[in-house]
Amino acid sequence: MLSYRHAFHAGNHADVLKHAVLLHCLNYLKKKDAPFLYVDTHAGAGAYKLSEGFATKRHEYREGVSKMLNEEGLPSFLDEYCALINSFNNSSELTVYPGSPLIAKEVLRYNDQLRLHELHPTDFESLQQNFKSDHRATVIKKDGLRGMIRAFPPPSRRALVLIDPPYKIQNDYHVIPYAIDDALFKFKTATILIWYPMLNNRLYEELKNALSQVYPERWLNVELTVNNQNKGMFGSGLWVINPPWDLPSTIESSKSELPSVLGQDESAALTLDFVIP
Ligand SMILES: C[S@@+](CC[C@H](N)C(=O)[O-])C[C@H]1O[C@@H](n2cnc3c(N)ncnc32)[C@H](O)[C@@H]1O
Repeated sequence: MLSYRHAFHAGNHADVLKHAVLLHCLNYLKKKDAPFLYVDTHAGAGAYKLSEGFATKRHEYREGVSKMLNEEGLPSFLDEYCALINSFNNSSELTVYPGSPLIAKEVLRYNDQLRLHELHPTDFESLQQNFKSDHRATVIKKDGLRGMIRAFPPPSRRALVLIDPPYKIQNDYHVIPYAIDDALFKFKTATILIWYPMLNNRLYEELKNALSQVYPERWLNVELTVNNQNKGMFGSGLWVINPPWDLPSTIESSKSELPSVLGQDESAALTLDFVIP
């Protein structure tokens, strides 16, 4: 679905949740010296200007990252995310928002590897530009779910995947569990983050149900509801396969801050479920 441009949504409440959890998982993998592979199945452009272009149409970042950056006394999980976003902005003014590929680029070490997939021609070009002198990165203009399966098992036997499709077509929901089944068949210990929007069509419930059946052994699901207006995206979630053992307590530490800072009405809430034996 190539009508989707993430620049419209960069830095919104869903990006805050997604990227804060992604950052924690990347840092967790760095606790061991052994290198790992980061796979971004739907990478986007890499970085987004907030002061011009698509991001200025709806200013979604004002209801997301801007609110978070203005908050004091955050738990370290959110503080680290804010510090990373600030490191992309020279002044106190927020002008750039890094997408998932640039967050990974910033965090990964010399021997780690990135495989970044993007189909949109313009975003692909930007992504290539953002990684043109990075020896660790392979930027691929092909379907990301197939790319994930192709990359497994990685030579390092350690991998983190972010699956973050536009969900503009129903097929996006249906193909993910099959792709994950194939990927885990080739490499069972991969950590895989699947982001999803909470919309009135409730298709995310079917996705969650399918994911819980594909890999019931070890998973975590976090959802941030921001409003109950029942129109558009009223929240978002992240399903994590093979999460770090400390992810539940890390998210718990911000259980009140995430909804209180990003919530848009009194229905705002964070829910957390997990199976970690
Ligand atoms: C939600 S955006 C990605 C945002 C990015 N992960 C981030 O967090 O900064 C989804 C992207 O997937 C791209 N896309 C759509 N279908 C794709 C596919 N089959 N394979 C790879 N990329 C795809 C879209 O062009 C869009 O840029």
